[in-house]
Amino acid sequence: MEISRREFVAGGAAVAALELAGCGHVRAPGTPATPEVEPLRLVGATRGILVGCAVQVRHLRDDPAYAALVSQQAGIVVEESALKMGPLRPSPTEYFFADADYLFEFAKKHKMKVRGHNFVWHEQLPNWFDKYVTQANAEHVLVEHIEHVAGRYAGRVHSWDVVNEAIEIKDGMKGGFRNSPWLKLLPGDGIAVPGYIDIAYRTARRVDPKAMLVYNDYGIEAEDEASAKKRAAVMALLRGMQARGIPVDALGVQSHISAGSRLAFSPEYAYGPGLRGMIREAHGMGLKVLLTEMDVNDRKLPASVAERDIAVASTYGGYLREALADEAVIAVLTWGITDKYTWLDYGLQQREDKLPQRCLPFDAEMQAKPAFFAERDALDGAAKRNS
Ligand code: G3I
Repeated sequence: MEISRREFVAGGAAVAALELAGCGHVRAPGTPATPEVEPLRLVGATRGILVGCAVQVRHLRDDPAYAALVSQQAGIVVEESALKMGPLRPSPTEYFFADADYLFEFAKKHKMKVRGHNFVWHEQLPNWFDKYVTQANAEHVLVEHIEHVAGRYAGRVHSWDVVNEAIEIKDGMKGGFRNSPWLKLLPGDGIAVPGYIDIAYRTARRVDPKAMLVYNDYGIEAEDEASAKKRAAVMALLRGMQARGIPVDALGVQSHISAGSRLAFSPEYAYGPGLRGMIREAHGMGLKVLLTEMDVNDRKLPASVAERDIAVASTYGGYLREALADEAVIAVLTWGITDKYTWLDYGLQQREDKLPQRCLPFDAEMQAKPAFFAERDALDGAAKRNS
């Protein structure tokens, strides 16, 4: 069902439509006010674009205002950690599915799609991994893991990030592959696509033939030389996979991007021809493209909230207009929805002045920021997708 913005603002019928669409009440009883702005999920739906965000199940459980905002805005969700191997596998023989199950139930209740993130990554591996997994048993461990996890949720997953972040140019390996634990364990022939990648995609397709299979990576969006090199290696990987008949359906462009140090784009962080070219190439190869983890880092910007909000919003708008110009782009997910919960407030990503980042469409009080309106307008301006 489609409703227009005008209808939404008019209230009445649109609120009913929202409930039918699983968006819940605009104001959930007993919770702080959820903003009265049109849900991005509905703006996207009018263009055939899935719109949503990464979530943290623990906050869906303990923060009703957050849960209400997610249910209002997101048509597709992904858990930040719960489906990774580490959180899922407390021991070689045990699985912890409680958080992932909660997410699938939440999504069902609110008529959302679910992305799976991820089967293979070099981070968030189980703490028993290094001692337990050897070249002799690695294939068995990987296949069994995918069979168990993909099997449990088969038919309910929109798309799986089967392999995440397999390219790292500075590791100096042939093909630009990351010298990850999985590469060391299952290198394959060492020339084309590493063995673990073939195994992971073939297993995922066999176990959940309905899920779109995605290769997901970061640092491939900008115009600088490092991004261009990484982009080239990612596209070569995808071409190699296709040439070998490995089932891959989509490129996931993480889109952890940065607002420049001035209000205008600095050349270092401009997003344009390289991004467009990569998406065009993927499109030409018959792949879909998903923007899987978008946020805009403001650590190069001064403290002023107003200045940051304008620069972050203009980065959202500019980037999304570039990406959405190509109809291969069928989904936009931000990595979080509110500044209250973002990975950018920790570790190396943290601002030097320790101020909370203003990187997402809603502020910490769940109110829409200029970034929300920039995202909405970019979606609104996109051509309608046919599939
Ligand atoms: O589960 C524990 C919890 O029990 C404990 O109370 C809490 C206290 O710190 O930590 C929890 O684990 C944390 C987990 O997130 C869940 O919040 C881990 O320490 C923390 O390392 C983990 O960080 C995640 C990170 O991936 C892991 O490297 C971030 O939330 C998540 O946003 C981030 O996501 C990645 C994508 O998977 C891939 N692309 C980049 C993106 C950002 O780094």
